[in-house]
Amino acid sequence: MAAGIDDIAIYIPRLYIDAADFADNRGLDPVKLQKGLGVSQMAIVDSNQDPACLAANACLRIMQKNKLSPDDIGRLYVSTESAFDESKAMNSYVIGMLEQVYGQGAFEHCGGVETKFACVSGSYALYDNANWIRADEADGKAALVVVSDIAKYDMGSSGEMTQGAGAVVMLLNDDPRLLAFDPKVTSTSIKDEYDFYRPFGKETPIVHGQYSNLLYMIQVRKALEAYKRKVVSSGLIKMEAGETILDHMDYINMHLPYSNMGKKALAYLVRHEWRQLPRWKNILKEIGMDEPIPKDPRGTIESVLGDEEFMAKDHEFTKLFTKTQAYQEVYESKLSSSLIASTMIGNLYTASLYLGFRSSLEFEYQKGIDLEGKRVGFGSYGSGSSAMVFSGVVQPAYKEMVKDMNLEAEIGDRKRLTWDEYEELHENKLSPEESMVHSKKEFVLVHVNTEKESRGERRYIFNE
Ligand code: CAA
Repeated sequence: MAAGIDDIAIYIPRLYIDAADFADNRGLDPVKLQKGLGVSQMAIVDSNQDPACLAANACLRIMQKNKLSPDDIGRLYVSTESAFDESKAMNSYVIGMLEQVYGQGAFEHCGGVETKFACVSGSYALYDNANWIRADEADGKAALVVVSDIAKYDMGSSGEMTQGAGAVVMLLNDDPRLLAFDPKVTSTSIKDEYDFYRPFGKETPIVHGQYSNLLYMIQVRKALEAYKRKVVSSGLIKMEAGETILDHMDYINMHLPYSNMGKKALAYLVRHEWRQLPRWKNILKEIGMDEPIPKDPRGTIESVLGDEEFMAKDHEFTKLFTKTQAYQEVYESKLSSSLIASTMIGNLYTASLYLGFRSSLEFEYQKGIDLEGKRVGFGSYGSGSSAMVFSGVVQPAYKEMVKDMNLEAEIGDRKRLTWDEYEELHENKLSPEESMVHSKKEFVLVHVNTEKESRGERRYIFNE
């Protein structure tokens, strides 16, 4: 039985901090954000928003757009790394909000859990729900997988340049109009690591930035190796001599903590794949330098990052590699459109990869490219750490879904925050009633209880 993504919807908060204002107030070169990281604007949540209401707003959009009733939905999964409760799943809050619109008890038949594994958990949720459909357990119903996060870092930290917020929801069923997942090829890697984590009670993560960048690429590469073995053994793809698996992916979507991380990760994967192939000789000729090798043959992340001479040479080599015509073609045709939304919105943690997929569909379609039958590869990464690589094929009915996609219209009018407003929001100085945007037809947070017996209870309303 087929399983895949039938439709996708987003909800992005309408406040943002502009990269130029950010750089100005932090004494940074704006070019570092805009060109170095690929960050132009970062979406920031209002004082009456939390990850649960971002998720509920995205779910309401996809249900209304597709005229779905709660009876059409058999499972609702929420994936997040911005949880605010150690026990009560974010699903309950989302269901509670949706039932304000669809009626109390309307979703009581619907199962689901909150999943956690940093930014990769949404991919596990997609995989588990696709398998629920493939196993014929769905009884004709669809699943909603919603990925929702607020990427918030400490004031003045290097991560603060890579913030953002938003939710993406995917409707999964057995006759998907957008993308059918390739069966039996999803591959993972996993390792106990401390590259990025958020201990109990801490609102912002502890991050080892450069370590996390390298670990992301290593872990995704490991998952890609496993994926390669599976596509060949399952017969999904016939590999000819001199080819790489990436030649068989028309599009490659990567996890995007900031848009240039997608570029970095693609360059890393392509470089490792091409190194084994006859084409590498010509690439080296064009680059005009040998590929650097780290001093320590063990090649641990610590030894590689500590080898300053190697890191500098490798950086130079990578820059030259990404300028080669062959790499530029791969970058332009397979990745570039997926980065546009990330540049405008910022980091969405679990939702970043899927915002990238959504961005790729819209902007490739606008180029007039026929996407039917194109294979899309996904490189998902979650700190701590695990990676997942999987793929799917764009379905004949995709046009019906993609032709009306309009990122700017879906975000809506945005308010550019002043630095003082940004600081007030970041430091949680405003109460829900002091929100900056007064939105209609949306769920908002109105109260978080602080009394001993009901501490942490949250109340939401649907703004008519
Ligand atoms: N003009 C143009 N470019 C400039 C520049 C300038 N003035 N100054 C620096 N740059 C370039 C640098 O050359 C670099 O480009 P390359 O990567 O191509 O070399 C880029 O801008 C970034 O500069 P730095 O590497 O010096 O930046 P940094 O160390 O200060 O911070 C960061 C970058 C480590 C990503 C930091 O923002 C951070 O810690 N972010 C949070 C962690 C993160 O996002 N990790 C990603 C992998 S883990 C993950 O993916 C999970 C998740 O969602 C968080």
